[in-house]
Amino acid sequence: MQILDIITKKKLGQPLTREEITFFARGAADKTIPDYQLAALLMAIRLNGMTAQETTDLTLAMRDSGDVCDLSAIPGKKIDKHSTGGVGDTTTLILAPLVAACGVPVAKMSGRGLGHTGGTLDKLESIPGLSVEETEERFIRQVQEIGLAVIGQTAALAPADKTLYALRDVTSTVDSLPLIAASIMSKKLASGADGIVLDVKTGSGALMETLPDALALAQTMVDIGKLAVAVITSMAQPLGTHIGNALEVKDAIDVLAGRTQGDLLEISLLLGSHMLVLAEKVKTLPEARAMLENALSSGAGLRKLAEMIAAQGGDPRVVEDLSLLPQAAVKRVMRAEMAGYLSAMDTTALGMAAQRMGAGRAKKSDMLDYSVGYVLHVRLGDEVTEDTLLATLYARNEAEAEEAEKAIRKALTIAKEKPQTPKLWDAVVTAEGITYNR
Ligand code: URA
Repeated sequence: MQILDIITKKKLGQPLTREEITFFARGAADKTIPDYQLAALLMAIRLNGMTAQETTDLTLAMRDSGDVCDLSAIPGKKIDKHSTGGVGDTTTLILAPLVAACGVPVAKMSGRGLGHTGGTLDKLESIPGLSVEETEERFIRQVQEIGLAVIGQTAALAPADKTLYALRDVTSTVDSLPLIAASIMSKKLASGADGIVLDVKTGSGALMETLPDALALAQTMVDIGKLAVAVITSMAQPLGTHIGNALEVKDAIDVLAGRTQGDLLEISLLLGSHMLVLAEKVKTLPEARAMLENALSSGAGLRKLAEMIAAQGGDPRVVEDLSLLPQAAVKRVMRAEMAGYLSAMDTTALGMAAQRMGAGRAKKSDMLDYSVGYVLHVRLGDEVTEDTLLATLYARNEAEAEEAEKAIRKALTIAKEKPQTPKLWDAVVTAEGITYNR
């Protein structure tokens, strides 16, 4: 079999056979196919799509490109959660400790930033000393001991995704339904969880911007995953107020410490509630929410996060002392300059602004600056006057702060009319069907 023939076939829009897809996934995993040919095939898939059968074949071939994790040594149902990616989307750092504090083991493998979206591993690595590289054995032991671990996928798990994920990030091939579905579900099927809660984003900062596209992605993943629930949530604006790696860790700690409420907390409680129900810890979502709120107000969630940080070699004092997180050299404030209502945000552009400040990668080999990013002080629908504080920027130098300010200003639309604010979540998709948030 020749990779060139497979690229040509997909370029012409023809469906690939299971054997061809397996050849591609194995070649990505063991690097026998060079990056430039993988990248060409990724672009052909991005442009011409895949059938449902091809998408399932790709998912299973990527899962089988490495080991499948056996979590049976951890008692109880293990429920995973995965987001299709967003900006200021720090739910894992909030819900994982809360769910674990409620007695449901969380053995989670997370990803790095992709395109304009942030990644949990990059955020966690901004905590001094913390390691996200663990062997499967140590991962399982940590969950047995403290009920919680969040690590990078081990080298042996879905290695095809490791290669393809990094290539997609730098070849503009992230926003492809079959590639997203196969990437997420191959890892989730390989990571050995009993059930999965999928957070499928929609809106200006989502990989799938429209509700129909987000529903199609959710349905594809639920169909592949069986014990999966997908919640369609809004990315019409960054979910949390902080964007950037250490800044998002701070946001999560502020939420767990009870200092910050708002959309990030709401979505964390919603997704966490679905996790508790899937784990059969409780029967209903309201019971689950009450349990999570209790773990929040008692401080048990924050203590669990500190335990996890310590178990992974990090400095647990960060949960009490945020100044231990990396701090940027330059701080700049940005004001509104005109009166009106914040009526729209280009959330992808907001994510790219943070990436260019050094919070994300433009090339595979780029090193991140964990300290940089910005805090948005306004939400969609807020009324602003000429000098309302819009954002505080944290940058490496004045020139990058200036460039980021321009990009953020351009991404925020201030209009005379008060806009309709988007719903926080639109629908829940299960194997049984779709329930809309009316
Ligand atoms: N998250 C993933 O793990 N993969 C994607 O392709 C997109 C989001």
